[in-house]
Amino acid sequence: MEEQTDSTFIKNISIVIAILVVFTIAIIFLARDIGFKEDAGDGPGSVAVTEERIKPVGGVYTGEDGAAAIQQAATQEAPVQAVAFDGSLDAEMIYTSVCSVCHGTGAAGAPMPGTEAMSDRAAKGMDVLVQSALNGLNAMPARGGRADLTDEQVQVAVEYMMQ
Ligand code: HEC
Repeated sequence: MEEQTDSTFIKNISIVIAILVVFTIAIIFLARDIGFKEDAGDGPGSVAVTEERIKPVGGVYTGEDGAAAIQQAATQEAPVQAVAFDGSLDAEMIYTSVCSVCHGTGAAGAPMPGTEAMSDRAAKGMDVLVQSALNGLNAMPARGGRADLTDEQVQVAVEYMMQ
């Protein structure tokens, strides 16, 4: 009787231990699998993405070394003076991209091309109209709100609107 209880106990505990061992091995493989996946490629957990996310937003430079570093950064990252649409003089494209937001709809009282409101303004003369477009007039923002438009680009857009 005594012996029988012992052997039953040993049998049961062996099964429990075997299950735990299998479970542990399964967890180890699962963890490796997840860990390697997160590290590879350019997913949200990848090293490259994480480094980009935690990179410093700025630096503090002092002394002569600092002055040199600032000088270098300035020459490297000198902003290229951006010109809208690479300086294109495609009047229709400029009008459609910038001016038509207001002038195509009459928003804020903008005169619409082809209407009397627009042709009435022709009496002012092209020079005055271009000046208004360059400098703004009441609700009309200077250069249609695109400071990177050149004088020439604004002029062709005005000519396009008036024709
Ligand atoms: C945010 C809206 C808006 C945008 C964008 C806009 N305009 Fe205007 N524009 C107006 C309004 C409003 C007026 C009428 C202003 C007034 O007479 O009080 C106007 C008037 C004008 C006039 C007549 C000026 C005058 O002296 O009578 C010209 C020319 C003109 N716009 C050209 C342009 C050109 C060219 C563009 C694009 C580069 C442009 N606008 C973009 C709102 C806009």
